[in-house]
Amino acid sequence: MRVLVTAGPTREALDPVRYLTNRSSGKMGYAMADAFAQAGHAVLLISGPTNLDVPDGVDFLPIENAQEMLEAVKRHIGRMDAAVFAAAVADYRPASVSEQKIKKTGETLTLELVKTPDILGSVRGEFGFTGTLVGFAAETQNLLENARAKLQRKGCDLVIANDVSKPGIGFDSDRNEVLLVFPEHTEALPEDEKHHLAPRIVREIERIAAERITG
Ligand code: CTP
Repeated sequence: MRVLVTAGPTREALDPVRYLTNRSSGKMGYAMADAFAQAGHAVLLISGPTNLDVPDGVDFLPIENAQEMLEAVKRHIGRMDAAVFAAAVADYRPASVSEQKIKKTGETLTLELVKTPDILGSVRGEFGFTGTLVGFAAETQNLLENARAKLQRKGCDLVIANDVSKPGIGFDSDRNEVLLVFPEHTEALPEDEKHHLAPRIVREIERIAAERITG
């Protein structure tokens, strides 16, 4: 398969020296890209800034903010058989980017934020993608309900959900504990290294993709 993977955080600029971002390390997305490549698939990894090495045999497209990630996905999704959205895209960005460094003037500073494009949410409708679509859901409460709602709202075949409030797993950790949320059922995978979980999840995605082709 040709597989697109998004990974890492985005950086939303505030001025020339500051940006808004999040705790994503990119480890889960990079582990997925690596596992796909090792299973013989052609992988394009579209990633925000991380400290990770690009896995062997993976095509790499670095981006910085949500808008750039959207444009990269839009450009490449048409030729993909499967797409996995593991990036922690900022949901909001500063309404304007100051050309000069913002100086400290008052005791408080109020930022106006505007919504970024929902990249995963654009894939089925706006981009007309008909391949296998996988999203991630990072939640701190009502994990299953929120993940299932996301699966339906964004037209996914699978949502990989994790509880980011649990210590030692998820954001910035080498380990994860995930729920695989399919349209008809849910499967819980026990806590493990992200590098062990990824090949297991890749096999599920291969199975879904094969079922979509054979109907
Ligand atoms: N995602 C995306 N573009 C965005 C926001 C999220 O592609 N602007 C993708 C993520 O890569 C992930 C999935 O959408 O696969 C879930 O992201 P999340 O922000 O949790 O979903 P939302 O539907 O925005 O729900 P909420 O923020 O309310 O939890």
